[in-house]
Amino acid sequence: MSKTYYLKTFGCQANKADSERIAGDYQSRGFSPASSWKEADEIVINTCAVRQRAEDRVLGFCHNIELFFSPQKRPKVILTGCMIHHGQEKLKALIPRIDEILPISEVGFNTPAIRKDKKHAWIPISSGCNSFCTYCIVPYSRGREISRPVPEILTEVSTLASQGYREITLLGQNVNSYGLEKTGIGLRKMLLKNDKFDLSDLPTNKSQYAKPSSIPPFVELLQQISSIKGIEKIRFFTSNPWDFHSELIAEITRNSKIDRFLHLPVQSGSDRILKLMNRGYTTADYIRLVNKIKKAIPDATIGTDIIVGFPTESLDDFHDTLKLAEKIKWDVAFISQYSPRPGTAAFRLYPDDVPPAEKKRRWLLLDQVINTSNLSNRPFIP
Ligand code: SAH
Ligand code: SF4
Ligand code: F3S
Repeated sequence: MSKTYYLKTFGCQANKADSERIAGDYQSRGFSPASSWKEADEIVINTCAVRQRAEDRVLGFCHNIELFFSPQKRPKVILTGCMIHHGQEKLKALIPRIDEILPISEVGFNTPAIRKDKKHAWIPISSGCNSFCTYCIVPYSRGREISRPVPEILTEVSTLASQGYREITLLGQNVNSYGLEKTGIGLRKMLLKNDKFDLSDLPTNKSQYAKPSSIPPFVELLQQISSIKGIEKIRFFTSNPWDFHSELIAEITRNSKIDRFLHLPVQSGSDRILKLMNRGYTTADYIRLVNKIKKAIPDATIGTDIIVGFPTESLDDFHDTLKLAEKIKWDVAFISQYSPRPGTAAFRLYPDDVPPAEKKRRWLLLDQVINTSNLSNRPFIP
């Protein structure tokens, strides 16, 4: 009988897409999937580190594994994904019984994915992130941004189309910057080395790339994918308010295969907080962009991500976010309570001074304003 594996995936679509490739790797080595982790010879845990709660859920799962198996009959347990950046030593201390800690890059873009869904496919177009949002661990956990070569993406999509796939979702931490020429410096190394710095040392997100001289590579990619026979719907996550080129808006207007739901994270409705987050835009910039999108694409629906309880967020700041919600009327918002992430700029520069109960109160209020009143007519939710 062949050996079995079980994959437990935490976190975002990027992790889900990686897990499909890890499954591909296992099956190419003759493993078959176990129906439950309790029956597997190997358990792979694909971890998320974006908030403490995500890490706690990983630790809880590891604890359950420890309790269930006797020491003589333990499966091999492998940890991968975004918690790897903590380093072997810290992870071994946190989870002593882990057998192997492997970076996700050992699987890579090119391992054929095993997909459960037969109509829709996730396609990573870049990995990592070059932005400098102060709260965010992703650039540390996934490293600097690398764009996947165009021919590789087109080959994968063509193969999927010939197998009957009709819908694809392109994935990247910031798809707008796909293939753009980088101008940014390796400042993140400096942050990791514990040197002293302040907010003014951080480059803005926008300054990481040269302005494209002709059509932005992401727009070109959308055009090439749209021309693949059989592909009927294309979505992408995440586009950010910076580098959202006019050519991208024009392409969506022109190209009916591109889904009308756009995910455009704002993170806060307070300009003061946006500055501390180093997002590189103001609420006026965001409103201008949304108006431009809605004018060009009248049937566009817009979703967002918001963090409540960011360090020093006052009631006035929070009210600014509520006011922006009333103005923009997002169709959906993924709202998070700020969670300090060791290693990030925010962790080192600001106190986590909004009490947990107050974060929760703001979360509930905002959720009510944006999401609860809006349950029917929801756009595609990943
Ligand atoms: N690249 C995407 C996704 C980033 S992570 C983007 O730029 O939007 C997904 C979401 O998690 C973020 O949009 C943010 O709202 C939330 N998030 C990230 N770090 C966080 C932190 N330290 N505390 C709370 N929420 C966080
Ligand atoms: Fe994090 Fe900002 Fe990069 Fe998104 S764009 S992954 S929020 S650093
Ligand atoms: Fe995604 Fe979590 Fe990593 S949100 S990129 S799996 S830290």
